[in-house]
Amino acid sequence: MTEKQLISTIKYVSSTKPAFFLSEIIPYLDEPLSLNTLFTIISPKLPGLGLMAKEVKGDFKISRIPPALPLLLNKEERERQEAFFTAGVIPLTLAQSIEKYITKKVGKDWNDPVIIERLRRAIVAQKDDYWKPAHKRSLQYTKGYSVLGYLAYHFPVYFMQTGYLLMMLTRDGLLKKNMTILDVGTGPGIVPLAIADFYSRLDDAEATIYSLERSEEHIEAFTFLRDALFGTGGRVTIKPPVKTDIRSIETTALPEKIDLVIFSNVLNELPDATMELRADIVHLLSERLAPDGSILIVEPADEENATRMRSLTVALQKKGLSIYGPCSFIWGSTCTAPRCWSFETAPAIRITRLMETLAHCEDSYRYVNTDIKYSYAVLRKDGMRKENFRMPEGSKFLRLSKLHLHLGKRINVAGLKMSGELGDARSHVFKLCDGTAKTPVYAVLPSYHITPENDAITSAPYGSLLELRNVLVRYNKAHDAYNLLVSRNTGIHTAGAADE
Ligand SMILES: C[S@@+](CC[C@H](N)C(=O)[O-])C[C@H]1O[C@@H](n2cnc3c(N)ncnc32)[C@H](O)[C@@H]1O
Repeated sequence: MTEKQLISTIKYVSSTKPAFFLSEIIPYLDEPLSLNTLFTIISPKLPGLGLMAKEVKGDFKISRIPPALPLLLNKEERERQEAFFTAGVIPLTLAQSIEKYITKKVGKDWNDPVIIERLRRAIVAQKDDYWKPAHKRSLQYTKGYSVLGYLAYHFPVYFMQTGYLLMMLTRDGLLKKNMTILDVGTGPGIVPLAIADFYSRLDDAEATIYSLERSEEHIEAFTFLRDALFGTGGRVTIKPPVKTDIRSIETTALPEKIDLVIFSNVLNELPDATMELRADIVHLLSERLAPDGSILIVEPADEENATRMRSLTVALQKKGLSIYGPCSFIWGSTCTAPRCWSFETAPAIRITRLMETLAHCEDSYRYVNTDIKYSYAVLRKDGMRKENFRMPEGSKFLRLSKLHLHLGKRINVAGLKMSGELGDARSHVFKLCDGTAKTPVYAVLPSYHITPENDAITSAPYGSLLELRNVLVRYNKAHDAYNLLVSRNTGIHTAGAADE
């Protein structure tokens, strides 16, 4: 019997009863194995199957791991988090530690004009590289200044963005009171530090955070900031990052059961990687995911990266993972995410002192980074979905896949608002999705047509299910997309809010 067959036997037996002894498996084996050898083979796989083992009188009792307690915030914890997001600024000690780290690395004050000018050049070089075609990008973070530039320009926004994502996971009950987290491509540890900061506003929740990173310079910055801010002995343990290339991860260095795996802004930094390789990396790590664990993938909101991330989720579905959110498949269809540019936004952060100093120059806009826009997906192994809503039989809404049959006509549709603002102050544009369309669909609302009856399209949060009644179907040849023109006669409501 191969190891794979052995694991499926264990899986099968565990599905038939709440507990069993490992010796019960022996009769199923083609070749005899001792109990201890059998245990050595299967024990690393047990946590991933949601099982645990206990030695009992020379045998091993295998039973299900009891379900973890979800992290539910009490009123005070919620208020502390809300106050943090309302202030919109990274903690002062963190901002000061970044300045101190720059001073330590360059051997001069962080605000020395020569150092500030070098940081500006590093930021511009990094941005220029980012906007090159994917295969021409060369960002390696081997030079000290590339990491210092990252700390100055990207760190504050990504730190706050991680906070918003943690809040989303908490609201959805996807965090646990005590959890093991893995951050892949951690850079200077933005995600672990943001998690520790988030947990510092909770009463008693605990977390252990592991991370993977290949750049020595990033690891050095991460270690400095971790030691300066969170030391040891708290409720959150941040393990030293494991230095590795994520294209060839040695999984023995990883914990056996991980509750949350995070890929934040890293998969797009594998310029030569095919979609298949990216999916393989995520899939490999999903083997260590607890049965009730989640995978969070986050990428920048620009069209290329956001679109590629969404296609990756489809590739992962084919490998057996399921999309928890933000997508929802209200007609029960399978989505192929064709050209799906979908992203979330959050309020802009307040500028840090370091950014302000960098922006004291002619092209100040180049050094100010305060907008939060990101594309994300949550995947699961257990098939759980954020939204289980299905359109009822005989519903009076048209599937978005049928728009081509109704060009120039006024129709009713239902779908999720799947983008932040893609238009401008004169004409608001939002992506709509019901999981059926092969061609992108946008709701377009000229500002002079805004009424209290239709402005839910601008105010509804990302991911809201909306009903749009009386929209005009247009085909936009230049973008090969359908526009649903919202006028003052259109009614838009969150689903269930309007009468039939
Ligand atoms: C843009 S940074 C993101 C850092 C952090 N996750 C965040 O959201 O800010 C991408 C990180 O992934 C790391 N990275 C890129 N390719 C990698 C690889 N093949 N193996 C390990 N780390 C890699 C880079 O060194 C860098 O630290």
